[in-house]
Amino acid sequence: MPHSVDDLNPSAHPIEPFRIKAIEPIHALSRSEREKRLSDSGFNLFNIRAEDVYIDLLTDSGTGAMSDRQWAGLLRGDESYAGSRNFVHLEKTVRELTGYPYVIPTHQGRAAEHLLFSALLDPGDYVVSNSHFDTTRANVMGRGAFPIDLPDPHCADVDDSYPFKGDIDLEALARVLDQHRDRVKCCLLTITNNTVGGHPLSLANAQAARRIVADYGVPLYFDAARFAENAWFLSQREESQKGKAITAIVRTMFEIGDGCMVSAKKDGLASIGGFLAFRDAELVRRLKELMVIVEGFPTYGGLAGRDIEAMTLGLEEVTDPAYLSYRVGQVNWLGEQLAAAGARIVRPVGGHAVFIDAGALYPHIEPDSFPGQALAVAFYREGGVRTVEIGSLMFGGADPETGAPSHPAHELVRLAIPRRVYTVSHLNHVVETFAAIFRRRHEARGFEVEYQVPQLRHFTARLREAAPRSVVQPI
Ligand SMILES: Cc1ncc(COP(=O)(O)O)c(C=O)c1O
Repeated sequence: MPHSVDDLNPSAHPIEPFRIKAIEPIHALSRSEREKRLSDSGFNLFNIRAEDVYIDLLTDSGTGAMSDRQWAGLLRGDESYAGSRNFVHLEKTVRELTGYPYVIPTHQGRAAEHLLFSALLDPGDYVVSNSHFDTTRANVMGRGAFPIDLPDPHCADVDDSYPFKGDIDLEALARVLDQHRDRVKCCLLTITNNTVGGHPLSLANAQAARRIVADYGVPLYFDAARFAENAWFLSQREESQKGKAITAIVRTMFEIGDGCMVSAKKDGLASIGGFLAFRDAELVRRLKELMVIVEGFPTYGGLAGRDIEAMTLGLEEVTDPAYLSYRVGQVNWLGEQLAAAGARIVRPVGGHAVFIDAGALYPHIEPDSFPGQALAVAFYREGGVRTVEIGSLMFGGADPETGAPSHPAHELVRLAIPRRVYTVSHLNHVVETFAAIFRRRHEARGFEVEYQVPQLRHFTARLREAAPRSVVQPI
C-alpha cells in the first residue's frame, strides 16, 4: 500500500481508509438555474445558497465529515458548567500531542487569536510570522499592532517545487528583530502555511527560528490549524523525520515553541472548536481572566461539552498515517489531474487545497477585471462547483496612500477540499468541469464592481460581467 504521497502514481486516486455510513444528498441544478443563481448573487459565490452548490470547495474549515466515534462522542457530552469530563479528556489529549501543560478550549480559532493578542499586544507592537492567516492579521491589527509576514522567498514563484515553502525567511526574521527588538512581542509560525498555499514548515526552519528569537527573548507560538498535515509532509520530505511516527513529529514541532493556538475546524476534524495551549502559567492566568468575559468558563470556552468531545476525538484520529496519506494524496491527485487538464497550479500541491493560476488561464483579462473571479464563476456556471477567488477581488483595491490600483502577485482560485467528504467521482466532476472551462477559456469575460464596502469587499461585493473582448492569447 502506498504510504508516501511523493511515491504515489499521480493518476491513481488514493483509496479512502473508511466506508460511508451516513449520506447527505446533493443535486445539480440545470445550467439555466445556475445562470439565474449567478446573476441573482451579483456573481458573488458567497451569496449563493449551499443547497444550490453541487460540489462545495469554498473551504476546508468545519466542513469535514465526523467519524462514527465522534458522533457517538456527542452523546457523551457532559454539559456541566465547570470541570466537565470532556474538558479533562481534551486536556489530556492536547498535553500528549503538544507537551504544553495548560489547555484552554475556545469556540474556534479566531477566538483563540483574540484572547492571546489581547493579553500580549499593545498599540505599536509587532508580530512576525511566516504568514498570518487573514483573521490572525485582523486580530493583530485590532490591537493597533502590526502583523509582519516573512514568507520563504521560494513562494514568489508559483512553479518552484521547493518542498518547504511554508518556512519563515530566517534572514528577514533576524533583520526585523534587530531593527525592532523591543516591539516584537512574538513570533508566530503557521503550520501548514495556509496563506502561501498550505505548504509545510520544516522542523529545521522552526528550530533555526527558535534560536534567532531566543536571543531576543521573544516567545515562539504556533498557529497550528493543520499541524497533522504539516507533520505528514515532514514524514515524507524532511530527511531527519522520515520513518518517524506522526505523533512524534507533531510533538517535536510543538516542543520547539512556547505554546499554540488551534482552530479545530481543520485537523481537529470537528465542525466547531479550537484551543490554546501554553507552558507559561502567568500568561494562562491572564487568558483565563479575559476569557470568562468573552468565551465562558475556562473549561468550556464557548463550546458545549459534546463539541469538546467531538473535537478531542478528532484530534486523536487525525494523526493516523492511513488517513493522512489518503488526505494529502487526494489533494495532490486533484492538483495533478487539473494540471493535466491544462491548469497552471501552485507547486508543490499543498495539504488542504489546490490553487489555480487564473492569470495564466485568462491572459486577456486584466487584474482590474478579476481573472480569478472569472474562473470561480466559470466553475459554478459549468459544473455547480464552488471555489474561492484569492486575487485582486480579495486582496486588491486602491493603494491607501496613492489611490492607485494595487494587485496581489498572483490571481489565484483556491479549491479547498473538505476532509473525508468527497470521493474520486466527485473530484472527477471537478476535473471535467475544469476541462470544459479550459476548452472555452478564450470566451471568458472579466467583471466590474457594482457594489463594494471598503473592508473585506469580496464577501459582499456585487459584480457585473464586462463586455466581451476580442484579444485572445492562448496559453
Ligand atoms: C491558519 C489559520 N489560522 C486561523 C484560522 C481561523 O480559525 P477559525 O476559522 O476557526 O476561526 C484559520 C481558518 O481558516 C486558519 O486557516
